[in-house]
Amino acid sequence: DTKGLKDYYRKYFPLGVAVSPYSIKQTQQAGLIIREFNSITPENAMKMGPIHPEENRYNWQDADSIVAFAQAHGLKVRGHNLCWHEQTPRWLFYDQQGTLLSKEILLKRLRDHIFTVVNRYKGKIYAWDVVNEAIDDDSTHFLRNSLWYKICGEDFIYKAFEYAHEADPKAVLFYNDYNTERPEKRERVYKLLKKLIDAKVPINAVGLQAHWSIYEPGQKDLITTIERFASLGLKVQITELDMSIYPWEKSPRERLPGESDTYTQDLEQKQADQYAMAFKVFRKYKDVITGVTFWNISDQHTWLDEYPVKGRKNYPLLFDQNLQRKKAYQSVTNF
Ligand code: G3I
Repeated sequence: DTKGLKDYYRKYFPLGVAVSPYSIKQTQQAGLIIREFNSITPENAMKMGPIHPEENRYNWQDADSIVAFAQAHGLKVRGHNLCWHEQTPRWLFYDQQGTLLSKEILLKRLRDHIFTVVNRYKGKIYAWDVVNEAIDDDSTHFLRNSLWYKICGEDFIYKAFEYAHEADPKAVLFYNDYNTERPEKRERVYKLLKKLIDAKVPINAVGLQAHWSIYEPGQKDLITTIERFASLGLKVQITELDMSIYPWEKSPRERLPGESDTYTQDLEQKQADQYAMAFKVFRKYKDVITGVTFWNISDQHTWLDEYPVKGRKNYPLLFDQNLQRKKAYQSVTNF
């Protein structure tokens, strides 16, 4: 059967997947990507640390190879990301004496970075995650107390969007974050988006990362989130979808008492049901949702094997460790 996920969803939205320069060189994985998906996101290759390791040196090799793969196979590319507190090189925030930069110089560096990267892939990357995860995890704070925030206050967010829009006026510009279905965080993200829109910042869309589990979110919270952000006139994408078999809320950095990483049939079924629920909602909101991207290709490799518990195997995707379609694949294509 050569029909893939993207074909089932032709009338709805593009289906994407996060890739590495390594995965696209593996024949089997490359074949799966081309058969099932029509969009890709570089999992790490375009983040500031990997792509801009020193002030006067860019490392284009990995990102270029991913864009070339997309071009060769007619896939769309989402750029990820232009401004984040993680995977950001240390040089960016300090001068040569090791002193924290002034706001003016840091914004100049941000502008140079955004112009250089966005320009290089102009016309080949249709959307950018401009600012990633700027809202704090602690509900008593609004924005995350990153070096970006410490040096620039809220302004780095406004500026990042302005620079990206200036560099490529046609690119679709995103604010991207996780846990956006939890009411309290949703409201803080909403507040930020509203401020940006009121200030006429060129933002087009919001990315719900969707690092979910078989236990959450519930349908109601998912729907409320989509409608709430859509009410601002923004498009919505699901940008980093996976479905952990472990509960997130109670996930400490070590295993729960008695917890094993056996992937039982019961868990696989629960996961298929949770995926089915989510995709039913996505289809219903197809006028708002302009893309759904999975975070990694198959259970063979997922960032969730390392996080939050190092070495605890997870099985969060639609394809198993042998790259075969799982129950969840059937549940999202059978409608
Ligand atoms: O590149 C180095 C390599 O040189 C070194 O040998 C190796 C040793 O550990 O590390 C490699 O870097 C790792 C990198 O992934 C590439 O594999 C980093 O340690 C590791 O921290 C990094 O993790 C990535 C993580 O973002 C960074 O925070 C994950 O792959 C990636 O899936 C994850 O993706 C994020 C999204 O960008 C934003 N939303 C959350 C999502 C999950 O955390």
